[in-house]
Amino acid sequence: MNILLLGNGGREHALAWKIKQSPHCTALYCMNGNAGIADVATTVTGNANNPADVVAFCQKNTIDFVVVGGETPLVAGVVDALAQAGIKAFGCNQMAAQLEGSKVFMKDLCAKYGIPTAAYQRFTTAEPALQYLQTLSPPLVIKADGLAAGKGVIIAESYAEGEAAVHTLLEEQGAIVIEEFMEGEEVSFFALTDGITAIPFGTAQDHKRVFDGDKGPNTGGMGAYSPAPLENPAFTQQIMDSIIIPTVNALNAEGITYQGVLYAGLMVTKDGAKLLEYNARFGDPECEVLMLRLNTDIVEIMLSVAEQRLAALPTPQWDDAPALCVVMASKGYPAQFQKGTVIRGVDALSTPSYQPTKISEGSSSEPRLNGVGLTPMTAADGVAQAAFRNFSWLVSDTVVFHAGTARDENGALTAIGGRVLVVSSKAATLRQAQQNAYKAVDAIQWDNGFCRRDIGWRALGV
Ligand code: AMP
Ligand code: GLY
Repeated sequence: MNILLLGNGGREHALAWKIKQSPHCTALYCMNGNAGIADVATTVTGNANNPADVVAFCQKNTIDFVVVGGETPLVAGVVDALAQAGIKAFGCNQMAAQLEGSKVFMKDLCAKYGIPTAAYQRFTTAEPALQYLQTLSPPLVIKADGLAAGKGVIIAESYAEGEAAVHTLLEEQGAIVIEEFMEGEEVSFFALTDGITAIPFGTAQDHKRVFDGDKGPNTGGMGAYSPAPLENPAFTQQIMDSIIIPTVNALNAEGITYQGVLYAGLMVTKDGAKLLEYNARFGDPECEVLMLRLNTDIVEIMLSVAEQRLAALPTPQWDDAPALCVVMASKGYPAQFQKGTVIRGVDALSTPSYQPTKISEGSSSEPRLNGVGLTPMTAADGVAQAAFRNFSWLVSDTVVFHAGTARDENGALTAIGGRVLVVSSKAATLRQAQQNAYKAVDAIQWDNGFCRRDIGWRALGV
């Protein structure tokens, strides 16, 4: 089938890389893409947030299936417009996307249906917000109400800092939410639902702060690994029972059918797991490590969500081997950064991964539990295992996914975004994946780039 992917980040490069390995995929287009995506898909320009533009492109190019990477097209109603035009898509409709697009919608739904999350209040003016702030003790959590790409949250360590945050965010965003501070371990928990059935779809841990030691401002994410150390069958079941399934039921009760990925940002506190936020998309860079570990055809999975036949889908298979990724960003990110700086050494690292070699189409392996017990795996084991998988491709275990990259007129790779490269590696142990990822990072020459050097510290203890 002809597939159109919407988006231009590292998440979309990982999705494109995985989609391209599917036997379902005849042709892959990406609106708008980046230099890495251009190696696996035909990149086209267009406004991916404009429903009419996306529908028109699909009709002109006989697109059978659209995969929406980020939240903006979902919130803009792209999937609704595609459905009206009779075009299938992976991604939720506009009503369902409010779960991410409006904190108030999400919080009210949680309150009404008893889904555990932090207590909160919403404000549009400073005076009542500051009065409420005085009733709390720091750390104080002040958030923008609306889409802010994970950057609209300020955790203030003092009342004075909180007061400044209230003014700044109100000025920038118009509406804010002040909520209870939750202490614990953060986990990105993914689930898929077609509105009838919900299944777990992996876990990861992100690194939100820009500098080593979790210092500095929040970013979209500076690195991740999968699975999260807390993941085990009991944990997964508990999150499905207490958070994911109640959410799908709550949405149905409100007349909203959610079809797509549910990304629950969890804080696992001493009183159990609570929702920090919901996203209607895969995490970035969590998607990169998930795609490296996924051994099942992603297009078949996404189609079963779009066609409401998730109940009949064989359990997705994950590599037991963990994966870790390091984000390389432009100096200055998440604030101002320079565009157009040249990056060297990436092409040499990446090329083999773009040309996966098909080695067999054996029968599907037995279902395995998600990421339980990290069995050491040698390269030879990997090949042997792969030979028994449904859709088996031999791929490199280190892949450089592109985010904000472009080619200049001479074909040189340049940085045009804040987060630029996502150096991702899968190995027998998380330590090995970390070492391999940093080895690849060190082979990249980019004067204007930086990365955290401690990705994985929480799981590895260093
Ligand atoms: P959000 O965009 O809402 O996920 O927030 C970004 C980050 O801020 C989260 O990943 C947490 O690290 C932190 N954060 C947000 N809300 C809270 C909270 N209520 N308590 C503690 N930390 C929080
Ligand atoms: N990595 C966090 C996010 O995608 O929101």
